This record gives sequence, C-alpha cells and structure tokens, in this order.
Amino acid sequence: VGMKDFAGKKVLVTAGGTREAIDPVRFISNRSTGKMGYAIAEAARDRGAEVTLISGPTTLEAPRDVRKIEVESADEMFEAVKQEYLQADVVIKAAAVADYKPVVVTRQKIKKGPDSISLELTRNPDILEFLGQNKGDRILVGFAAETENLMENAQKKLKKKNLDLIVANDLTLEGAGFGVDTNVVKLLFADGRVIPLEKMPKRQVADIILDTILTLK
Ligand code: C5P
Repeated sequence: VGMKDFAGKKVLVTAGGTREAIDPVRFISNRSTGKMGYAIAEAARDRGAEVTLISGPTTLEAPRDVRKIEVESADEMFEAVKQEYLQADVVIKAAAVADYKPVVVTRQKIKKGPDSISLELTRNPDILEFLGQNKGDRILVGFAAETENLMENAQKKLKKKNLDLIVANDLTLEGAGFGVDTNVVKLLFADGRVIPLEKMPKRQVADIILDTILTLK
C-alpha cells in the first residue's frame, strides 16, 4: 500500500551506536538504540527503495526485506560504509558513531588494582566527513544530537561535512533523542532553509525526511 516514490532508488542507512573495545569484556558506547535509523530503513523500504542498513549492536529486529550488515565499532562501520556507499543514491547517517576509541585494546581483561587508572582515547574516523568529501551526485543526510548550541553546531556540521540535509535533535527536550519512540527535530538544508517539526513518532519523522529528500533532486 501507499506510494512507491522511492522505487528504483538505493538507500544506505546507518543506525545504532558503536562499541569501542577497552579489553575483551568491556567497551565504551552511548545511549543510541537504533530506533531512528531503523524507522528510516523501514519507511524507505515501504516506499519502494532498495535498502541497506549498517547497524551497530541493537535489540531491534532486522526489518524484513532490508539488507542488514552488522558492525560493532566505528572502524567496522567505516569499512562497511566504504564497501556500500558507491552503490547508493541516498546515504542517511543516523548512527551515533563514537567520536573516540581507546588507544590500546588490551588482550587480557584489565584487573582491578590501583585506586585510579586512566584510559587514553584517540579520534575515530569521521565517516560522514569522508562521505561528504566523496559525495559525487549522492544525497547525503546527517544527524546532529546536541545538548547545547544545537542550531549553531548543526549548521557547522552541515557545511563542514558537505551535507544536503542535517536532522538536528535537541537532547534536552522530552520525547526527543535516544531510546524514545518519538523525536523532536529541525531539518536544516544546505540552502539555509530550516523546517522545525513537532514532537512525533520516529516513523513519521522518517517519512518527512524521505519526503524532503525527494524535493532535493
Ligand atoms: O559531528 P557529529 O559526530 O556530531 O556528527 C553527527 C553525524 O556524523 C551523524 O550523522 C553521525 O552518524 C556522523 N558521524 C560519523 N562518524 C563519526 C561521528 C559522527 O559518520 N565518527
């Protein structure tokens, strides 16, 4: 049922948080559940797109008729994205990729010892920035989740990462961001337009994102 307005389009979606290993049993991660990205993958599938979903660890079920690639770390997600993006017409990066990872991953479990220990971190590759630099004629959509200076940060990322659209998420609002089934976002376009959306189910946010993508080309 419904409009197959993405028929013939190949959509690549990333979703979920990444896990950055510290030792064989521990990792650093974030509160992302993957709900926003999975909602986008399902909406695109329902609208006729051929969808590939690159997902960090989540408890969500793989959407049917979507090709799912499971990854754990940002490095693994980057490898998967590099394998897949060339075939995509639209890339939507809803994943909460860890910005940093431990410099060393110890081979053995770290034992309890001193009162205080420290963990050195190093930057992960910025996948979205890579995609922006290698965009070709793809449409590129990013997300920005912030606890402060949302619009300013989102505007900067849109430019720096060469995006067509950034979906800005205010993590301080109730019913927005990680874990919940709703979201409150603003859509910021490369041409300066801003569309603020009410609080609504993530699936509806997903459909509006897809609607606006179709207006871009
Ligand atoms: O700069 P920031 O990490 O907040 O950017 C958020 C956007 O960039 C999201 O779309 C996220 O998927 C993407 N990202 C990425 N690789 C990173 C960090 C973020 O692709 N290492």
